[in-house]
Amino acid sequence: MMNSPPNTVLVTGSNRGLGLEFVRQLASLPVSPSCIIATCRKPDNAVALKKIASKYPSVHILKLDVTDRENIRSVTEKVGHILEGQGLNLLLNNAGVGPGGDLYDVTEDIMMHTFKTNVVAPLLVTQAFLPLLKSAAKTADCIGLSWRKSAVVNISSRLASIETNEDYLLGRYPYKTSKAALNMVSKNLGVDLREDGILAVSLSPGSVRTDMGVPTAPLLPHQSVEMMLQVISGLNEDDSGSFLNFTGELIPW
Ligand SMILES: NC(=O)c1ccc[n+]([C@@H]2O[C@H](COP(=O)([O-])OP(=O)(O)OC[C@H]3O[C@@H](n4cnc5c(N)ncnc54)[C@H](OP(=O)(O)O)[C@@H]3O)[C@@H](O)[C@H]2O)c1
Repeated sequence: MMNSPPNTVLVTGSNRGLGLEFVRQLASLPVSPSCIIATCRKPDNAVALKKIASKYPSVHILKLDVTDRENIRSVTEKVGHILEGQGLNLLLNNAGVGPGGDLYDVTEDIMMHTFKTNVVAPLLVTQAFLPLLKSAAKTADCIGLSWRKSAVVNISSRLASIETNEDYLLGRYPYKTSKAALNMVSKNLGVDLREDGILAVSLSPGSVRTDMGVPTAPLLPHQSVEMMLQVISGLNEDDSGSFLNFTGELIPW
């Protein structure tokens, strides 16, 4: 059974894949968040997302390219207005890119673009939302750390694991190094934000059939997101700063 959900949530990259599914499942919970900010790069083209928003008034769509600093600034302002004094309980840093790039064809441009999207962006988005995350943690009526208080969930990947790399899909330098760096961001945030009542984790969705995932992936988006929401709903202070699988188990760094 899932613990009662956070009151306010923001998801990045919510027009397709796992981000879209996060919004769909959060909005349709029997007791759902009062406000779900669903961000994406091109709201005009986000047909499936707009359909969800038309069914659930709790869903607000905002334009956010996570690599655009000015856009991050303007979106935090808009979110502040939408939340009307409430803080932000859950930030789901989901947007990401997954280009190939092995030892012989990887380029500087691919490395930099992937790091900007998968590492720098989640860090700067979190930085921008700190006042709202802290405000949620301060006003929440619960003890310990949890998603009802304030949580930052960075969607990582099992491919980030350095310890298990030898037996797991070699190559893919941009993606694997960027997600490993994202894990350090999560760990740092977990330590830095503990005193403020905010937890932070890296969470792997498993291998999922999305545009980024492989067509033969064992999980469908709804299965992965259902399990990730179970895990997120059970997070507490002992989990902060950790790297977790969608099953809730720790993944070796
Ligand atoms: N699928 C898997 O098997 C798998 C496994 C491990 C981890 N993950 C992680 O799960 C997360 C979601 O991936 P997915 O499988 O749902 O992939 P996806 O279907 O390719 O979706 C990626 C999402 O990220 C968005 N995005 C990319 N760059 C962006 C930017 N600069 N600003 C805002 N949004 C941006 C995309 O928006 P546009 O439509 O505008 O491009 C899209 O909404 C990613 O972080 C990924 O690394 C996935």
